[in-house]
Amino acid sequence: TIRVSCSKTVVIGVAADSGCGKTTFTRRLASVLGGGAEPPRAGRNPGSNTLVSDTTTVICLDDYHSLDRVGRKAKGVTALDPRFVDFDLMYEQVRAIKEGRAVEKPVYNHVTGLLDPPELITPPNILVIKGLHPMFDERVRDLLDFSIYLDISNEVKLAWKIQRDMGERGGHSLESIKASIEARKPDFEAYIEPQKQYADAVIEVLPTQLIPGDDECKVVRVKLIMKEGVEHFAPVHLFDEGSTVYWIPCGRKLSCSYPGIRFAYGFDTYFGHEVSVVEMDGQFDKLDELIYVETHLSNLSTKFYGEVTQQMLRHADVPGSNNGTGLFQTIVGLKIRDLYEQIVARR
Ligand code: ADP
Ligand code: G6P
Repeated sequence: TIRVSCSKTVVIGVAADSGCGKTTFTRRLASVLGGGAEPPRAGRNPGSNTLVSDTTTVICLDDYHSLDRVGRKAKGVTALDPRFVDFDLMYEQVRAIKEGRAVEKPVYNHVTGLLDPPELITPPNILVIKGLHPMFDERVRDLLDFSIYLDISNEVKLAWKIQRDMGERGGHSLESIKASIEARKPDFEAYIEPQKQYADAVIEVLPTQLIPGDDECKVVRVKLIMKEGVEHFAPVHLFDEGSTVYWIPCGRKLSCSYPGIRFAYGFDTYFGHEVSVVEMDGQFDKLDELIYVETHLSNLSTKFYGEVTQQMLRHADVPGSNNGTGLFQTIVGLKIRDLYEQIVARR
């Protein structure tokens, strides 16, 4: 990929299936990148899906649906079907923002399922495009300075959906949740999943290996897969770069109740690319003790000792803060801040 370095706004893509933590991750990201004390705020329009901080604007690619919910129902198609995404407009508008021009972006209202009046998006330092298809269209993909795919395994996806739809949203049965995941699967496999081959970093969330036969997925095993040779991005490593490491940090410096914590690190290949992989299985009991783990990780792009731990403590109430999802999302946030600063310094 040729990356244009004279552009004004740095563009980051975040891809995942729906209900896989894009909103949760990009909120954390906007806060890590935001710099200021202000938490990121929502766009002005009531139906807006946009999140704004001092440095960063996150837009949701659902806004480029060319059919509203009624239209999808009538045609019998899912929101994952790229035939009903306006990639021409997405490309035009992301390119405009990247070149420093404001745009009137459409707004898809998730409550009503209708298209609302458009909203003005002015060029930020960092534009995050999150959605089902940020890496699907080659033209849009080529505008990305960095891309991330959140790869949530089927077991964990089901567990998160159960928690949301039977808990927070109420009313849905286990059977109906399973059926809705199954119904979307063909389109997911055809249009969403293949984008992971293009991602510069993948956060993979799997069932734990620490509890035999676990299907609750309260405890998860998370892999941070980082492509080698990406401009302005140096993968993180555990202990020494290039070694293969298995590490159980529990003991005097880290409190771990059952089932404990296990880290792993090494090289691998992913869709034909060389990658570095850091893995964490298990969860933290006391977040401030994370500093012990942080000191064993290198290339974190922190600005001071303990910054990862500080960020994790700041967002302690965000889902995933006590496990590898929160840890790796925070690290990716710091790497993106570094990438942004390197790109700006080169201009
Ligand atoms: P998306 O924007 O991709 O649809 P959300 O960020 O809204 O996904 O998350 C969907 C559901 O999954 C929410 O109920 C959220 O609390 C839960 N969730 C998201 N990330 C995590 C995580 N790292 N650990 C546990 N639950 C999570
Ligand atoms: C995904 C899309 C949303 C869509 C939802 C349900 O989550 O991101 O834009 O609203 O699927 O799709 P439906 O066609 O049932 O409204």
